[in-house]
Amino acid sequence: MRLSRYFLPVLKETPAEAQIVSHRYMLRAGMIKQASAGIYSWLPMGFKVLRKIENIIHEEQQRAGHIPMLMPTIQSADLWRESGRYDAYGAEMLRITDRHDREMLFTPTAEELITDIFRANVSSYRDLPLTMYQIQWKFRDEIRPRFGVMRGREFLMKDGYNFDLTKEDALHAYNRHLVSYLRTYERMGLQAIPMRADSGPIGGDDTHEFLVLAETGESEVFYDSQITDLKFGDREIDYDSREQCQAVLEEFTSRYARTDETHDEAVFNQVPEERRRVARGIEVGQIFYFGTKYSEPLGATVADADGNQVPVHMGSHGIGVSRLLGAIIEASHDDKGIIWPEGVTPFHCGIVNLKTGDAEADAACEKIHAALIALGLDPLYDDTTERAGAKFATMDLIGLPWRITVGPRGLKNGVVELTSRRTGESEEMPPEAAVAKIAEIYGVAAA
Ligand SMILES: Nc1ncnc2c1ncn2[C@@H]1O[C@H](COP(=O)(O)OP(=O)(O)O)[C@@H](O)[C@H]1O
Ligand SMILES: [Mg+2]
Repeated sequence: MRLSRYFLPVLKETPAEAQIVSHRYMLRAGMIKQASAGIYSWLPMGFKVLRKIENIIHEEQQRAGHIPMLMPTIQSADLWRESGRYDAYGAEMLRITDRHDREMLFTPTAEELITDIFRANVSSYRDLPLTMYQIQWKFRDEIRPRFGVMRGREFLMKDGYNFDLTKEDALHAYNRHLVSYLRTYERMGLQAIPMRADSGPIGGDDTHEFLVLAETGESEVFYDSQITDLKFGDREIDYDSREQCQAVLEEFTSRYARTDETHDEAVFNQVPEERRRVARGIEVGQIFYFGTKYSEPLGATVADADGNQVPVHMGSHGIGVSRLLGAIIEASHDDKGIIWPEGVTPFHCGIVNLKTGDAEADAACEKIHAALIALGLDPLYDDTTERAGAKFATMDLIGLPWRITVGPRGLKNGVVELTSRRTGESEEMPPEAAVAKIAEIYGVAAA
């Protein structure tokens, strides 16, 4: 992509309404624009990162054996009356009346809708286990939308639902989700810690929230510092193995880690004092097991092996897809701008032409640009006539992890400069070597 042909409305001034760094940088880097309170348009660069995050989630959910699908954003109130949640949900639900005076709502979550699909189509235990998920827009009429995409009113969520014959099976689904979430967040360059939490309006006893530690987080968290040493890494996991999934759950949840809702001072005080941490965190996901809370009122039953009709055991599992952009930026930035982890960066690398119009510099940039594209990579080439300083400032702000700088002086010696956004370190090398290095970083085979 050539910057001269792209839409990247970078702001020089810091927008006054943005209180936290991720919100400031998302606005300044031209990623989002507020449409109305808590509702955003996703401009091309923001949209690109959103799609990358979605792709990682899709890959990891399907690796765990979960099936993608899509449900509507507008639902009828009827199902919510059946479950008893229509009145209970309160003012956060956006209620809509259609031209026939039918009561509708914009989906804040979809337990009822998916249970209705299940009960209409599944009648035997032989069709279980079943886990389906979607990535779909949600609306919650938050009283105080704030911090940009962190607490929006309209936001993108991955929501998955498991249907199982027994509690034991449903707890395996719960553990599978925990494992897949650990992998998902790590691929985004995040450490998200599972913490015992409160179930809120979803209901149920077993629930963990995944929290990214950040000073600007809305939740107060209490944990044993040993937990931050844990890493899922690239270990192999068999998602069908109950033992393996259970072992991961135990490894990642046996140390003290709770949000303020479930915090217990007496238990916390059993952690050695030097390991006790009180901090703030951003909730980027939550998993629930709630048994038959929805299957009973909605009549989602199956025939078991003996022919008895039994309500299925369920859980639901959410990831805050749009919130993740904010969380990643809170966790990875400096005073010049965003520092994207390689896994979610909108472009793999930037190419800065120090002297657009210089025949040699232009030709070298074109060649690097074309070589990267031929490798299946997605570079952003700043081919504008801005000053070099302004080009660097934009690249630093938008946070591409790697930058190749090309100028007439370097080219005289046959070199360009490769710079890491994270460390700021630069290295001179021939253009082909810079392309090969980028290919290596992203794990693609150089030509
Ligand atoms: N208003 C919001 N704006 C952005 N993301 C949200 C919002 N509310 C929830 N999320 C994200 O969706 C995920 C799943 O939602 P859920 O656990 O049902 O939300 P909550 O705990 O706020 O009731 C949360 O972990 C969070 O990351
Ligand atoms: Mg939650």
